[in-house]
Amino acid sequence: MATAFAPGKCILFGEHAVVYGHPAVAVAIDQGVQVSLTNSKNWTIDGHSFSHSRHPHISHIINDLFKYKGSPLNIEIKSDLFSAAGLGSSAALSNAMGAALHYFLNKDEDLNLIKLAKIAHSAEAIAQGGRASPTDTAASALGGCIVVSGKEVEGTINVFKTSLDTPEGERNWVINKVIIPPESEDIYLILGFTGDASPTGNMVQGVANLLKSNPDKINVMDSISKITLAGLSALSAGNFEAVGIAMNACHSKLQDLEVSTHSLDRLVDAVRPYSLGAKMTGAGGGGCIVALSRNPQRVAEEIEIAGGSPLISKLGSNGVRIV
Ligand code: PMV
Repeated sequence: MATAFAPGKCILFGEHAVVYGHPAVAVAIDQGVQVSLTNSKNWTIDGHSFSHSRHPHISHIINDLFKYKGSPLNIEIKSDLFSAAGLGSSAALSNAMGAALHYFLNKDEDLNLIKLAKIAHSAEAIAQGGRASPTDTAASALGGCIVVSGKEVEGTINVFKTSLDTPEGERNWVINKVIIPPESEDIYLILGFTGDASPTGNMVQGVANLLKSNPDKINVMDSISKITLAGLSALSAGNFEAVGIAMNACHSKLQDLEVSTHSLDRLVDAVRPYSLGAKMTGAGGGGCIVALSRNPQRVAEEIEIAGGSPLISKLGSNGVRIV
C-alpha cells in the first residue's frame, strides 16, 4: 500500500495578469487530495473499473511518465477540496498520484518535489488540451507560498524553471518561493465557495475579448502587477495589514476585468468587516473568495450566513507528502 497527500492552493495575487506575463502569488492550503494505491486483480478506481479516457491525468502519469508495467492497481481517492472551485483539486490529484506511485515503486527513495511538480504539470496539460499554467501544480508540490512569473522576481528564492509546448508555441515560467515569516502564526486564510463552478478557460477567453474590444484595459493588468509586488513585499515583511489592503485592491481590479460576480462580491462584502482583506481567488465567474483574518471562525460564520461554504486554512501549508 502507498498513500500520498497533496494540498490544494489559492491565488493571493495576480490571477489573469499572470496570463500576460506578470507575476502571481499562490499559497498551499491545508485541504487537499489523498491517493492510496494497492495491488488488485483488475484496474479499479474508488471501487469502479478504471477508464483511461475518464481519468486522463492518472492514465498519463501511470503509462507515459512512470511507464508502469506492474500488476493492476486499486486507486482510492479522498478529497476535502471543493471541485471546479479554483482550489487546484486536479493538480493536487496529479501530485498525490505521482507521489503515491513513486513511493509504491521506490519506497527507499525520497520524493523529488520539483520532479513531481513537473510530472503533475505535464498531466494537467494533457487533460486540458495542452494549456496549463504551472501555478497549481507547483504550489501543491512545493507547499508554502510560491510566485509564478515570466522572469525571476526580486526578493524571492528561485526554485526551478519550466516550459510547456502549447498550441500557441512554447511558454516559459520561473517558479520562485517566498518564506512566510513567523508573524503569520495567528493569521488564517478563509476560503468561501459560492457554489458556482469556476470555468477557467471561459474566463481567460472573456478577458482576452475584453482587452480586444477595450485595449485601455491593459492598464488594469499593469495595476494588478504593481499590487502583486506590493502584496508580496508586505507578505515577506510579515506586514499582514498591508497584505490585506493589497488583497482588497486586487479584488477591485479584478472587478474592472469583469471576472467577479454578484455572488463573489456578496461574500467579499460579508467578510470584509472581520478580515484584514478579502478578494475573489482564481479565474472568477464562480469559485471562491479568500479572506485573510485573525478571526477565522467569525469569517467562516459570515460566509455561511451569506450563502457560501467556508474552509479554514493556515497561511501556506506543507507540500505533497507520503502519509
Ligand atoms: O484555475 P484557477 O481558478 O485557479 O485560476 C486560474 C488563474 C488564471 O490566471 C485566471 C489562469 C492561469 O492560467 O493562470
